Amino acid sequence: MSERITSVLNEERRFPPPERFREQARIGTWAEYQERYRRSLEEPDAFWGEVASELHWFEPWREVRRWNEPFVEWFVGGTTNLAYNALDRHVEAGRGNKVAYFFEGEPGDRRVLTYKDMLRETSRFANVLKAQGVEKGDRVAIYLPMIPEAVVAMLACARIGATHSVVFGGFSAQALGDRIADAEAKAVVTADGGFRRGAVLPLKPAVDEAIARTGDVVKTVIVVRRAENDVAMEPGRDVWYHEAARHASDVCPAEPLDAEHPSFILYTSGSTGTPKGVLHTTGGYQTYTYLTARTVFDLQENDVFWCTADVGWITGHSYVAYGPMLNGATQVMYEGAPTHPTPDRMWGMVERYGVNVFYTAPTAIRAFMKLGDEHPAKHDLSSLRLLGTVGEPINPEAWMWFRRVIGGDRCPIVDTWWQTETGGIMLTTLPGVHDAKPGAAGVPFFGVEPAIVDVEGNEVPDDEGGYLVMKRPWPSMLRTVYGDDDRYRNQYWSEIPHVYFAGDGARKDADGYHWIMGRVDDVVNVSGHRLGTMEIESALVAHEAVAEAAVVGRPDEVKGQGIVAFVTLEGARQGDDALREALRAHVASQIGGIAKPDAIHFAEALPKTRSGKIMRRLLRSVASGEDLTGDVSTLEDRTVVDKLLQGS
Ligand code: WT7
Repeated sequence: MSERITSVLNEERRFPPPERFREQARIGTWAEYQERYRRSLEEPDAFWGEVASELHWFEPWREVRRWNEPFVEWFVGGTTNLAYNALDRHVEAGRGNKVAYFFEGEPGDRRVLTYKDMLRETSRFANVLKAQGVEKGDRVAIYLPMIPEAVVAMLACARIGATHSVVFGGFSAQALGDRIADAEAKAVVTADGGFRRGAVLPLKPAVDEAIARTGDVVKTVIVVRRAENDVAMEPGRDVWYHEAARHASDVCPAEPLDAEHPSFILYTSGSTGTPKGVLHTTGGYQTYTYLTARTVFDLQENDVFWCTADVGWITGHSYVAYGPMLNGATQVMYEGAPTHPTPDRMWGMVERYGVNVFYTAPTAIRAFMKLGDEHPAKHDLSSLRLLGTVGEPINPEAWMWFRRVIGGDRCPIVDTWWQTETGGIMLTTLPGVHDAKPGAAGVPFFGVEPAIVDVEGNEVPDDEGGYLVMKRPWPSMLRTVYGDDDRYRNQYWSEIPHVYFAGDGARKDADGYHWIMGRVDDVVNVSGHRLGTMEIESALVAHEAVAEAAVVGRPDEVKGQGIVAFVTLEGARQGDDALREALRAHVASQIGGIAKPDAIHFAEALPKTRSGKIMRRLLRSVASGEDLTGDVSTLEDRTVVDKLLQGS
């Protein structure tokens, strides 16, 4: 890590919460935020104890927090159950007939599931797991399309105390096998296939291949029938869910679990090759996701909430499966591609279900923006009252488009910074309290104490870039890297002493807003200035010819690193030398000469992971003319890279 990160993005616009929103918001004044935030830091036990008490506990905790750096326990001695709190609690309170999910499959099939339905289906699924020999403490891999059974399977594990490891359905057999082996998953829950872009994406063959690679770890495979494609079933190991469910009771009491019982493992890529199994537990996780979902999305009793993430990612865990369910919210769930069969699919669904709160990723927003305003314009989006983004820094250009075209200039936008490791939202604005600034994640959520520090751990002045760290543990913090406490300690608690190291560069402005500059390995060092690649990308995307941009560094004898930009263009625009020069001049005028790209490659598409993250590691190799090495199994479309290599 080098000494300084220089911040160059200069964004002055701000948008206060609309009066009408503020008046009805769960938290609607700065004073209330301030008072609750102060209390969450000064009296954390009282603060978190009160929040946790809103949920059900079989046995109360003896101690709210026990901190033995770098290991934390929350609600020590308490017993509870995530599925009980997400389901039974609402049914017992008389909300059993409230809709939990409006589900739409890609082909257009629809299902409506109430809380009572979800309780019944979850209990039945839990009984099938038990009948297949799954016990409390066992690990279960879940490899499903985005269908209600995915959430049902997660909650069924939580109900009996099995630890789930959801593997995104777009991952390869190899990636699945690695994760099964690392977690020693005894059972796999999968489907015959799912629907994606009008075709059937088979899942079961990948499971068979993954199991063949992992020896005899997996004892049972439960197969949900979804796409009705032919699959091979291995006798004695594989069972059809619909057949097993026929003999299963739909009553299954929730198991009282220790607050620190491992609820799930979710694998995330590290800077080195092997994925890390991020481990989350029960009592702290449920308390934090409950409160963040409620407060950040300002969930009101009759709201329809739509988080577009797949349950294969942490966003789908915390803000599809758990947080909203813990609040008894009504949600939309969609199986397929956002533009199938027509580019207005999502907006049609917003209109059909009267979605009020819509939470998605910047990469999706940029893709919608590129498709054109005419698609959202076909639909009545007036039900929307709040928008949110997550996953990467959003360039102000896309933010403004989201606000104007989707939000009708009326909806606040929350830009929520967090990570697989943090379990829940850490930095955000509260929609009824804070002005939004395009491109900035906001201020700390309750109980979160961030700092921006230099390499020695000294806090840097406002508006100076540095490393984002957390000065104290929070309830939904990862507990360890599964099976590897050393890696946990080294990765998160050693880089800078006595703080959680997030691995992102950021700066804090004078209002306390955090401007995330990307992963620290996503910065370029030009003549001793570490520049956030995102800020240069924002400048490029602000040019009318540019649709998407990715910036990486390449070695440069004089400057340390030079800047290389990969750019896709709007519509039918063609890239030529004149446009290259215009873009370089544009960046220079927006940011300054230091950020001017040394080279610009025009590309048809950028290489992305299946979750939409640009694979910078690959672009760095292309930019510096190196061989492509390392794992490309998470790449969505391999041909994109081949085209880039030909063009470079
Ligand atoms: C990394 C975590 C949290 C769910 C999805 C990603 C980046 C995340 C933001 C945001 C700027 C963001 C960070 C972070 N990131 N949200 N609002 N603004 N950057 O989870 O795969 O664990 O990735 O995503 O770089 O460290 P993840």
